[in-house]
Amino acid sequence: PIIYAITPTYARHVQKAELTRISQTLMLVPNVHWIVVEDSEDKTSLVSNLIADSGLKVTHLVAKTPPFEKLQAKDPRWKRHRGVEQRNKALLWLRSNLQLNTDKGYVYFMDDDNVYSIKVFSEIMKIKKVGVWPVGLVGGLNVETPILDPETGKVKAYKSGWKPNRPFAIDMAGFAINLDLILEKTDANFSYKMEKGFQESQFLSYFTKKEDLEPLADNCTKVYVWHTRSEKPLVNGVVVGYEV
Ligand code: UGA
Ligand code: MN
Repeated sequence: PIIYAITPTYARHVQKAELTRISQTLMLVPNVHWIVVEDSEDKTSLVSNLIADSGLKVTHLVAKTPPFEKLQAKDPRWKRHRGVEQRNKALLWLRSNLQLNTDKGYVYFMDDDNVYSIKVFSEIMKIKKVGVWPVGLVGGLNVETPILDPETGKVKAYKSGWKPNRPFAIDMAGFAINLDLILEKTDANFSYKMEKGFQESQFLSYFTKKEDLEPLADNCTKVYVWHTRSEKPLVNGVVVGYEV
């Protein structure tokens, strides 16, 4: 089976640093197919060159966020959904290029700015339908995690800094899905219509129920992924925002 890792990415000063880190993590994973989706009109040479250098198996796509939906430098980051267009483009690619019952694998949404231990990929390989695990440094907490019922070992609630009562209070980095489900449920996509902060929850609702989630990473006691974010750097003494 192949792990299809979907990474939206957009141009800003830290982009090459972020993509260098994530691509070099993926170089340590034997069976990965990286789907990189640039938030731009055309493929950029920065991303094309980085992909070529990596030697990874990569599908390189573009999907530009419409101007109205695009986060502006002055906006607080929660104001707009991020990565919607790009993840949908990758899902469409999977559904157009892979075949149910022939192609086997998993789908994992890997934002370009997080930090991933290679251990998360061995956990993904254990998934039957939908696997979940803790995510470090997210939602104002040291760690967000599914809470397991000690009797049944199943997910009964979530420890989350923000709306823990969401049907699935899990960050994008905290779950992966069997490719079969992605190929079966062709209407499951991300959407601007979703309530802010509900992308993960609503997407997961297409595939599973809380009771059926498969807790991984040692029954959700280990952290193998961190929701990090590089601060906007100083360039020539000025803090630079979204535009390069
Ligand atoms: C959190 C979640 O971890 C994201 O998975 C989720 O998409 C986002 O909230 C949301 O609610 O929309 P956060 O760290 O705030 O993530 O978002 P970013 O890391 O800035 O963006 C997520 C992904 O979208 C990244 O891979 C980023 O490169 C990409 N992105 C961001 C674009 O392609 N275009 C943009 O204009 C901004
Ligand atoms: Mn992020």
